[in-house]
Amino acid sequence: MPVHLLQPPFFQNPSLRVTRRRLLAWFAKYARDLPWRHTRDPYAIWVAEVMLQQTQVAAVIPYYGKFLAAFPSIAALAGAKEQDVLRLWQGLGYYRRARDLYHAARALCTTHGGELPDDAEALGRLPGLGRYTVNAILSQAFHRPVPILETNSVRVLCRLLGVRDDPKKSVVRRRLWQASEALVPVHAPGQFNQALMELGALICTPAQPACGECPLARHCEARRTGTVQEIPRTSRSARIEEVDEVALALRKDTRMLLVQRPPAGRWANMWELPHGHLKKNETHKRGAKRLLKALGFTGNPGGRIAAVRHTVTRFRITLNCMAVERPRGRFCAGLYVRARWLTPSDMHGYPISTPQRRLIKMLGERKRLSKSG
Ligand code: ADE
Repeated sequence: MPVHLLQPPFFQNPSLRVTRRRLLAWFAKYARDLPWRHTRDPYAIWVAEVMLQQTQVAAVIPYYGKFLAAFPSIAALAGAKEQDVLRLWQGLGYYRRARDLYHAARALCTTHGGELPDDAEALGRLPGLGRYTVNAILSQAFHRPVPILETNSVRVLCRLLGVRDDPKKSVVRRRLWQASEALVPVHAPGQFNQALMELGALICTPAQPACGECPLARHCEARRTGTVQEIPRTSRSARIEEVDEVALALRKDTRMLLVQRPPAGRWANMWELPHGHLKKNETHKRGAKRLLKALGFTGNPGGRIAAVRHTVTRFRITLNCMAVERPRGRFCAGLYVRARWLTPSDMHGYPISTPQRRLIKMLGERKRLSKSG
């Protein structure tokens, strides 16, 4: 990396002013018409920014409208049940975000009269609000000239400044924050921050950036040095690992056992068919028996009746489902906090992760087929 480019000052005046002006003009002309761009309500902006973390715009849009219709204010969200919040988030993933949003709303009702404060420190104390989210809210809702940095803006800045080093390194990250800070204008900081992200989403894309249409092409160091394809440098991604898991369909007539996960960890407080990892060299059947016992039951797991594949971070998981008809015993809390015997239609009211929903749906279809056949 040409180190001098990452030493302040990052930009020469007037190039700084021209860069801002060109980017803002481009945004005014080409920005997508997205629902959170029509609001000044700090709460609505906050919800959008949380939903957009690690999630594509197209996936967020339908959830955003439904969420705000159900919980139109911080007070409404704080007054809801956590299970109802999770249910509305169902399918969007990273459920921790929903729980944090909910608990932050409750905290705001006791400390700030149900309003988001125009104060970086107070915002930063709320669960789930890191520097990015705090600054996104401050710049868009309160017009504070504070910088943002997320995947798209990192890529834009790395290319603009010709940063060849890995932006995941903390020293590089710090410099990028400083560069973003140097760029953000006092006038229209929220628009500017969104423009930086929008440029990364629409023009300065990872694989085939449309440099010919880029308003900043003239100022871009990567373009000048022909290094657009190498920037940003990505660390070699961790190896994908295959993981085998068992899930149990414990059945009594038309009901199946649904269990609730503990309040911490992945998918906290959500409901599912009981499932667990297989130990090394353990067969599906043995794993199923072990899980059955840990839940407080005995019975005879049959063969695999359905399987769902899904990916969590670098793990490619196969969820192998075994049925146990009329298990004996009583549920005992431990792995899970509670359990209910439910029909498939009862399950609609419960927050359940996408792979588990797919599995439950498959089981329902299988049952229908075996009845009609
Ligand atoms: N990603 C994160 N924040 C965003 C925003 N406000 N608009 C579009 N994409 C985003």
